[in-house]
Amino acid sequence: MRMILIGPPGAGKGTQAQRLVHTFSIPHISSGDMLREAVAAGSLLGKTAAGFMKDGLLVPDEVVIGMVIERIAGEDCARGFMLDGFPRTRPQAEALDEALTRSGVTLDAVVLIEVADALILERIIGRRSDPETGTIYHLKFNPPPPEAAGRLVHRGDDTEAACTARLEKYHRETTPIVPFYEGKGLLKRVDGVGSPDEVLLRITAALQTVQAAS
Ligand code: AP5
Ligand code: MG
Repeated sequence: MRMILIGPPGAGKGTQAQRLVHTFSIPHISSGDMLREAVAAGSLLGKTAAGFMKDGLLVPDEVVIGMVIERIAGEDCARGFMLDGFPRTRPQAEALDEALTRSGVTLDAVVLIEVADALILERIIGRRSDPETGTIYHLKFNPPPPEAAGRLVHRGDDTEAACTARLEKYHRETTPIVPFYEGKGLLKRVDGVGSPDEVLLRITAALQTVQAAS
Protein backbone atom coordinates (compact mmCIF):
# COMPACT_ATOMS: atom_id res chain seq x y z
CA MET A 1 0.00 0.00 0.00
CA ARG A 2 1.41 3.38 -1.05
CA MET A 3 -0.67 6.12 0.44
CA ILE A 4 -0.74 9.72 1.55
CA LEU A 5 -2.56 11.39 4.44
CA ILE A 6 -3.52 15.00 3.79
CA GLY A 7 -5.29 17.36 6.16
CA PRO A 8 -4.99 20.66 8.00
CA PRO A 9 -2.75 20.99 11.06
CA GLY A 10 -4.25 18.98 13.89
CA ALA A 11 -6.53 16.98 11.59
CA GLY A 12 -5.23 13.76 13.10
CA LYS A 13 -2.77 12.65 10.39
CA GLY A 14 -0.15 11.51 12.89
CA THR A 15 -2.74 9.96 15.22
CA GLN A 16 -4.29 7.93 12.41
CA ALA A 17 -0.95 7.03 10.80
CA GLN A 18 0.25 5.53 14.11
CA ARG A 19 -2.78 3.23 14.04
CA LEU A 20 -2.85 2.46 10.29
CA VAL A 21 0.78 1.43 9.84
CA HIS A 22 0.09 -1.65 11.97
CA THR A 23 -2.77 -2.63 9.67
CA PHE A 24 -0.68 -2.36 6.53
CA SER A 25 2.82 -3.09 7.94
CA ILE A 26 4.34 -0.12 6.14
CA PRO A 27 6.58 2.68 7.44
CA HIS A 28 5.01 5.94 8.61
CA ILE A 29 6.92 8.79 6.97
CA SER A 30 6.08 12.17 8.46
CA SER A 31 7.95 15.07 6.87
CA GLY A 32 7.27 17.11 10.03
CA ASP A 33 8.83 14.42 12.26
CA MET A 34 11.84 14.16 9.92
CA LEU A 35 12.34 17.93 10.04
CA ARG A 36 11.94 18.03 13.85
CA GLU A 37 14.61 15.29 14.14
CA ALA A 38 16.92 17.34 11.90
CA VAL A 39 16.34 20.43 14.06
CA ALA A 40 17.06 18.43 17.25
CA ALA A 41 20.24 17.00 15.68
CA GLY A 42 21.40 20.50 14.69
CA SER A 43 22.17 19.38 11.12
CA LEU A 44 22.41 21.84 8.24
CA LEU A 45 18.93 20.73 7.13
CA GLY A 46 17.61 21.33 10.64
CA LYS A 47 19.21 24.79 10.85
CA THR A 48 17.60 25.72 7.52
CA ALA A 49 14.19 24.40 8.55
CA ALA A 50 13.98 25.67 12.16
CA GLY A 51 13.01 29.29 11.48
CA PHE A 52 10.28 28.39 9.00
CA MET A 53 8.80 25.78 11.32
CA LYS A 54 8.75 27.98 14.42
CA ASP A 55 6.69 30.60 12.55
CA GLY A 56 4.34 28.05 10.98
CA LEU A 57 5.69 28.64 7.48
CA LEU A 58 6.45 25.93 4.94
CA VAL A 59 10.05 24.80 4.59
CA PRO A 60 11.12 25.50 0.96
CA ASP A 61 10.23 22.82 -1.60
CA GLU A 62 13.85 22.32 -2.65
CA VAL A 63 14.75 21.30 0.91
CA VAL A 64 11.79 19.01 1.59
CA ILE A 65 11.44 17.26 -1.77
CA GLY A 66 14.95 15.75 -1.73
CA MET A 67 14.57 14.67 1.90
CA VAL A 68 11.34 12.72 1.32
CA ILE A 69 12.16 11.30 -2.13
CA GLU A 70 15.42 9.92 -0.69
CA ARG A 71 13.53 8.43 2.27
CA ILE A 72 10.95 6.56 0.15
CA ALA A 73 13.77 5.09 -1.93
CA GLY A 74 14.76 3.18 1.23
CA GLU A 75 14.51 -0.62 1.26
CA ASP A 76 11.80 -0.60 3.94
CA CYS A 77 9.51 1.30 1.52
CA ALA A 78 9.73 -1.31 -1.24
CA ARG A 79 6.34 -2.78 -0.26
CA GLY A 80 4.71 0.53 0.51
CA PHE A 81 4.68 3.59 2.74
CA MET A 82 2.37 6.04 4.45
CA LEU A 83 3.26 9.66 3.79
CA ASP A 84 2.03 12.18 6.38
CA GLY A 85 2.50 15.90 5.69
CA PHE A 86 4.09 15.42 2.28
CA PRO A 87 3.29 16.51 -0.37
CA ARG A 88 1.79 19.82 0.74
CA THR A 89 2.44 22.00 -2.31
CA ARG A 90 1.75 21.43 -5.99
CA PRO A 91 5.51 21.24 -6.86
CA GLN A 92 5.95 18.60 -4.13
CA ALA A 93 3.05 16.54 -5.54
CA GLU A 94 4.51 16.75 -9.04
CA ALA A 95 8.01 15.82 -7.81
CA LEU A 96 6.60 12.79 -5.99
CA ASP A 97 4.69 11.76 -9.09
CA GLU A 98 7.84 11.94 -11.21
CA ALA A 99 9.90 10.00 -8.66
CA LEU A 100 7.31 7.21 -8.43
CA THR A 101 6.98 7.02 -12.23
CA ARG A 102 10.79 6.74 -12.49
CA SER A 103 10.66 3.85 -10.00
CA GLY A 104 7.83 2.17 -11.91
CA VAL A 105 5.37 2.27 -8.99
CA THR A 106 2.04 4.02 -8.43
CA LEU A 107 0.13 5.50 -5.52
CA ASP A 108 -2.84 3.52 -4.24
CA ALA A 109 -4.76 6.13 -2.24
CA VAL A 110 -4.74 9.68 -0.91
CA VAL A 111 -6.83 10.17 2.23
CA LEU A 112 -7.99 13.70 3.01
CA ILE A 113 -8.94 14.06 6.70
CA GLU A 114 -11.40 16.95 6.87
CA VAL A 115 -11.73 19.06 10.04
CA ALA A 116 -13.19 22.58 10.18
CA ASP A 117 -10.81 25.42 11.09
CA ALA A 118 -12.88 26.26 14.18
CA LEU A 119 -11.91 22.93 15.80
CA ILE A 120 -8.21 23.06 15.00
CA LEU A 121 -6.82 25.46 17.60
CA GLU A 122 -8.11 23.47 20.60
CA ARG A 123 -6.57 20.29 19.18
CA ILE A 124 -3.23 22.01 18.61
CA ILE A 125 -2.98 23.80 21.95
CA GLY A 126 -3.84 20.63 23.92
CA ARG A 127 -1.51 18.29 22.03
CA ARG A 128 1.34 16.60 23.91
CA SER A 129 3.72 13.93 22.59
CA ASP A 130 5.66 11.26 24.43
CA PRO A 131 9.29 11.49 23.23
CA GLU A 132 9.98 7.91 24.38
CA THR A 133 7.21 6.19 22.43
CA GLY A 134 6.26 8.87 19.91
CA THR A 135 2.61 8.55 20.98
CA ILE A 136 0.45 11.61 20.35
CA TYR A 137 -1.92 12.63 23.16
CA HIS A 138 -4.39 15.42 23.85
CA LEU A 139 -4.92 16.74 27.35
CA LYS A 140 -8.72 16.58 26.88
CA PHE A 141 -9.48 14.29 23.91
CA ASN A 142 -6.86 11.58 24.44
CA PRO A 143 -5.36 12.07 27.92
CA PRO A 144 -1.85 10.70 28.53
CA PRO A 145 -1.31 8.05 31.22
CA PRO A 146 0.04 9.45 34.53
CA GLU A 147 3.41 7.66 34.12
CA ALA A 148 4.10 9.65 30.91
CA ALA A 149 3.12 13.01 32.41
CA GLY A 150 6.63 14.08 33.43
CA ARG A 151 8.20 13.66 30.01
CA LEU A 152 5.54 15.01 27.64
CA VAL A 153 6.55 17.52 24.97
CA HIS A 154 4.54 20.48 23.67
CA ARG A 155 5.65 21.35 20.12
CA GLY A 156 7.24 24.78 19.61
CA ASP A 157 4.87 25.52 16.71
CA ASP A 158 1.75 24.64 18.71
CA THR A 159 1.09 28.27 19.63
CA GLU A 160 -1.96 30.26 18.57
CA ALA A 161 0.10 32.52 16.26
CA ALA A 162 1.93 29.64 14.53
CA CYS A 163 -1.30 27.65 14.27
CA THR A 164 -3.02 30.55 12.48
CA ALA A 165 -0.08 30.76 10.04
CA ARG A 166 -0.12 26.98 9.47
CA LEU A 167 -3.84 27.02 8.70
CA GLU A 168 -3.38 29.90 6.27
CA LYS A 169 -0.55 28.00 4.53
CA TYR A 170 -2.70 24.88 4.40
CA HIS A 171 -5.54 26.65 2.61
CA ARG A 172 -3.29 28.56 0.26
CA GLU A 173 -0.57 26.01 -0.57
CA THR A 174 -1.88 22.54 0.25
CA THR A 175 -5.56 22.50 -0.76
CA PRO A 176 -4.57 22.97 -4.45
CA ILE A 177 -3.16 19.42 -4.41
CA VAL A 178 -6.62 18.01 -3.60
CA PRO A 179 -7.96 18.41 -7.19
CA PHE A 180 -4.62 17.07 -8.46
CA TYR A 181 -5.28 13.72 -6.73
CA GLU A 182 -9.04 13.86 -7.29
CA GLY A 183 -8.32 14.03 -11.02
CA LYS A 184 -6.25 10.87 -10.75
CA GLY A 185 -9.15 9.07 -9.01
CA LEU A 186 -7.07 8.51 -5.85
CA LEU A 187 -8.78 10.83 -3.38
CA LYS A 188 -10.79 9.54 -0.40
CA ARG A 189 -12.46 12.22 1.73
CA VAL A 190 -12.93 11.28 5.37
CA ASP A 191 -14.72 13.24 8.10
CA GLY A 192 -12.08 13.82 10.81
CA VAL A 193 -14.57 14.84 13.51
CA GLY A 194 -15.45 12.19 16.07
CA SER A 195 -13.28 10.03 18.28
CA PRO A 196 -9.93 8.83 16.84
CA ASP A 197 -11.40 5.30 16.72
CA GLU A 198 -14.41 6.49 14.73
CA VAL A 199 -12.17 8.30 12.26
CA LEU A 200 -9.98 5.19 11.96
CA LEU A 201 -13.04 3.12 11.04
CA ARG A 202 -14.00 5.63 8.35
CA ILE A 203 -10.49 5.56 6.86
CA THR A 204 -10.36 1.77 6.91
CA ALA A 205 -13.76 1.61 5.21
CA ALA A 206 -12.66 4.10 2.54
CA LEU A 207 -9.53 2.03 1.88
CA GLN A 208 -11.46 -1.21 1.52
CA THR A 209 -12.22 -0.37 -2.09
CA VAL A 210 -8.53 0.22 -2.81
CA GLN A 211 -6.73 -2.58 -4.57
CA ALA A 212 -3.14 -2.04 -3.48
CA ALA A 213 -0.57 -2.83 -6.16
CA SER A 214 2.53 -4.28 -4.48
P1 AP5 B 1 3.70 18.71 10.53
O1 AP5 B 1 4.40 18.04 11.65
O2 AP5 B 1 3.34 17.91 9.33
O3 AP5 B 1 2.44 19.46 11.12
P2 AP5 B 1 0.97 19.72 10.56
O4 AP5 B 1 0.70 19.38 9.15
O5 AP5 B 1 0.68 21.13 10.96
O6 AP5 B 1 0.12 18.68 11.28
P3 AP5 B 1 0.17 18.29 12.78
O7 AP5 B 1 1.29 17.34 13.04
O8 AP5 B 1 0.12 19.54 13.62
O9 AP5 B 1 -1.25 17.60 12.95
P4 AP5 B 1 -1.72 16.12 12.66
O10 AP5 B 1 -2.70 16.16 11.55
O11 AP5 B 1 -0.59 15.16 12.58
O12 AP5 B 1 -2.56 15.89 14.00
P5 AP5 B 1 -2.27 14.95 15.27
O13 AP5 B 1 -2.56 13.54 14.92
O14 AP5 B 1 -0.97 15.26 15.90
O15 AP5 B 1 4.57 19.92 10.02
C1 AP5 B 1 5.13 20.84 10.93
C2 AP5 B 1 5.92 21.90 10.17
O16 AP5 B 1 7.02 21.28 9.46
C3 AP5 B 1 5.15 22.67 9.09
O17 AP5 B 1 4.43 23.77 9.62
C4 AP5 B 1 6.28 23.10 8.18
O18 AP5 B 1 7.00 24.18 8.71
C5 AP5 B 1 7.20 21.88 8.19
N1 AP5 B 1 6.85 20.90 7.15
C6 AP5 B 1 6.47 19.61 7.35
N2 AP5 B 1 6.25 19.00 6.17
C7 AP5 B 1 6.50 19.90 5.20
C8 AP5 B 1 6.41 19.89 3.79
N3 AP5 B 1 6.02 18.78 3.14
N4 AP5 B 1 6.72 21.00 3.12
C9 AP5 B 1 7.11 22.13 3.75
N5 AP5 B 1 7.20 22.24 5.10
C10 AP5 B 1 6.91 21.13 5.82
O19 AP5 B 1 -3.47 15.46 16.22
C11 AP5 B 1 -3.46 16.77 16.74
C12 AP5 B 1 -4.07 16.77 18.15
O20 AP5 B 1 -5.46 16.44 18.03
C13 AP5 B 1 -3.46 15.72 19.08
O21 AP5 B 1 -3.43 16.24 20.38
C14 AP5 B 1 -4.43 14.54 19.00
O22 AP5 B 1 -4.44 13.77 20.19
C15 AP5 B 1 -5.75 15.25 18.77
N6 AP5 B 1 -6.67 14.47 17.95
C16 AP5 B 1 -6.35 13.65 16.90
N7 AP5 B 1 -7.47 13.09 16.38
C17 AP5 B 1 -8.51 13.59 17.12
C18 AP5 B 1 -9.91 13.40 17.08
N8 AP5 B 1 -10.49 12.58 16.17
N9 AP5 B 1 -10.69 14.07 17.97
C19 AP5 B 1 -10.13 14.90 18.90
N10 AP5 B 1 -8.79 15.11 19.00
C20 AP5 B 1 -8.00 14.47 18.11
MG1 MG C 1 1.49 15.36 12.63
